[in-house]
Amino acid sequence: MSDFIKPEKIIVEDFVLRQIPATKDFAEEIYDIFIEDADTFKHWFNGGMWKSVEDVLKYYQNKSQPNDTRWQFAMYGIFKNDELLGEIGLSGIDTTNQTAEIGYWLKKSARGKGIIDRLIPVIEQLAFETFNLRKINIWCDNDNIASRRHAEKNGYILEGIQRERKLWPDGSVHSTAMFGKLKSEYKK
Ligand SMILES: CC(C)(COP(=O)(O)OP(=O)(O)OC[C@H]1O[C@@H](n2cnc3c(N)ncnc32)[C@H](O)[C@@H]1OP(=O)(O)O)[C@@H](O)C(=O)NCCC(=O)NCCS
Repeated sequence: MSDFIKPEKIIVEDFVLRQIPATKDFAEEIYDIFIEDADTFKHWFNGGMWKSVEDVLKYYQNKSQPNDTRWQFAMYGIFKNDELLGEIGLSGIDTTNQTAEIGYWLKKSARGKGIIDRLIPVIEQLAFETFNLRKINIWCDNDNIASRRHAEKNGYILEGIQRERKLWPDGSVHSTAMFGKLKSEYKK
């Protein structure tokens, strides 16, 4: 896998996927997007939330570290006409086992338009063809209906529910729905 280059930019019709720059301006924008819709974004953070703009900035600075030679992340901002709509990509890339997890979020105004369903195949192509991974997972909170729908509609197999896997900061416990797609199931 280390022979491959992580694309800097992927163009899909009128969307541009590119890394979100670790700047104060973007950190402020993302902080506002998440704070204004904390009830939905709690699923992205296992019930927690950014505490400050500085938290967001640190998170994106860490992600863009050039010493990330194993490409632990291949996450891309989703831009349309230079407006940041959300993020999609691969995290937890495991070069030994050749697996990764797809993750995504959208700001509220960008939801319900099929954007993630349009982009999941693009990320699958990156995973299976460019990075030559064997398997990709979508693991989501069992109560995260929108995310579960994406996994189901895109042909991911529900491999199990890991019971009470997460303890959120509010004391509630949450199970995780584990969906997966093998390279042999890709494009079927
Ligand atoms: C996950 C997320 C990107 C989905 O946004 P989206 O791609 O625009 O998806 P939609 O809002 O269109 O929802 C997808 C499907 O779930 C359905 N759905 C969403 N919420 C639902 C609810 N509460 N009850 C029933 N169905 C629901 C929608 O009707 C839609 O169904 P359809 O595809 O059959 O039309 C968005 O909710 C988000 O950013 N969430 C926070 C981050 C997150 O949870 N990421 C995933 C972590 S695993």
